[in-house]
Amino acid sequence: VKKYEIVRTILGERWNTAPHYTIKSAFAPTNIALCKYWGKRDEELNLPLTSSLSISLGSKGTTTELKISGKSDDEIYLNGGLMQNDSPFCQNLLEFLNLFRYEQTPRFIIHTNSNVPIAAGLASSASGFASIVLALDGLYDWQLSQDELSILARLGSGSACRSMWQGFVHWHAGIRSDGMDSHGESLRARWPEFCIGLLIFSESEKAIPSRVAMQRTITTSALYQAWPSKVSRDLAAIKQAIGNKDFQLLGKAAESNATTMHATMLSAWPPIIYSVPETLVAMQRIWELRNEGLQIYFTQDAGPNLKLLFLQRDIDNVLANFPSIEIIQPFAID
Ligand code: DP6
Repeated sequence: VKKYEIVRTILGERWNTAPHYTIKSAFAPTNIALCKYWGKRDEELNLPLTSSLSISLGSKGTTTELKISGKSDDEIYLNGGLMQNDSPFCQNLLEFLNLFRYEQTPRFIIHTNSNVPIAAGLASSASGFASIVLALDGLYDWQLSQDELSILARLGSGSACRSMWQGFVHWHAGIRSDGMDSHGESLRARWPEFCIGLLIFSESEKAIPSRVAMQRTITTSALYQAWPSKVSRDLAAIKQAIGNKDFQLLGKAAESNATTMHATMLSAWPPIIYSVPETLVAMQRIWELRNEGLQIYFTQDAGPNLKLLFLQRDIDNVLANFPSIEIIQPFAID
């Protein structure tokens, strides 16, 4: 398969060498797209039809520890609990890990700890795959570049390629069929006042995986043809907004990008709606607050939860209206 070829090309002479250490652990942040990745030009390599832009969530993410094991099978612990190797979670993880192992050796004891809700549209798979790639790079001492690590993470899940950096990350769609030009790039800009509020309505698994929803949207939605040009405009606006610290411009482009993505899904067949009634109630409240002058916007991924976007000066006001939110300040530390 094509994925193996990419891994072998990137690893070069390092392919199939023994690990350098017996245990290594790595952290990767989760990320939230302000301009979404929605649609692939290559299903196997997770090559996107458009570029996208995200913000990483600082200390929110996944730590994965890989330890070489003498046993005959891998052991996977998710947040401390041993998982069944035939569960979808383990199958997914092992399929990815096996890309990097010759005949699945060595076997590992894998501890993956996530401080974001799994599969609730909070991109825990992005930080998961990114942290596995970083842990492997450490364990084998490959010393790959950030761009190479980003490409490898993308093979696990598209959005994972943006979790290789903190701050704002631009994932360039690229044009090559092998995807060697499709990886993240850190924008390096800092915006210390930037806040994200996680408004969680449900931590349960999403009904339809984003990969399935994306594919269905491309193949059945009449609105999808408008998506690529919408992304170009929003991406340009968001980059400009970040450069000028123009929060209103950023909020408007990000929210409108998210609602447009969800509109393409609503027009797919069978239709897809990730929102629950509480999602819509919160949207209405956000629009009301904005009419009253509060600078608050939202974005939404493949799940019912909303991510609120606002500035530090409005924290008290936002909390008064949404007391349950968890606030993340991506630039507060480091
Ligand atoms: C709505 O990266 O999870 O969160 O590449 O199939 O694994 P696969 O998809 P994934 O899709 C993320 C979709 C999104 C938007 C985004 O993060 O850009």
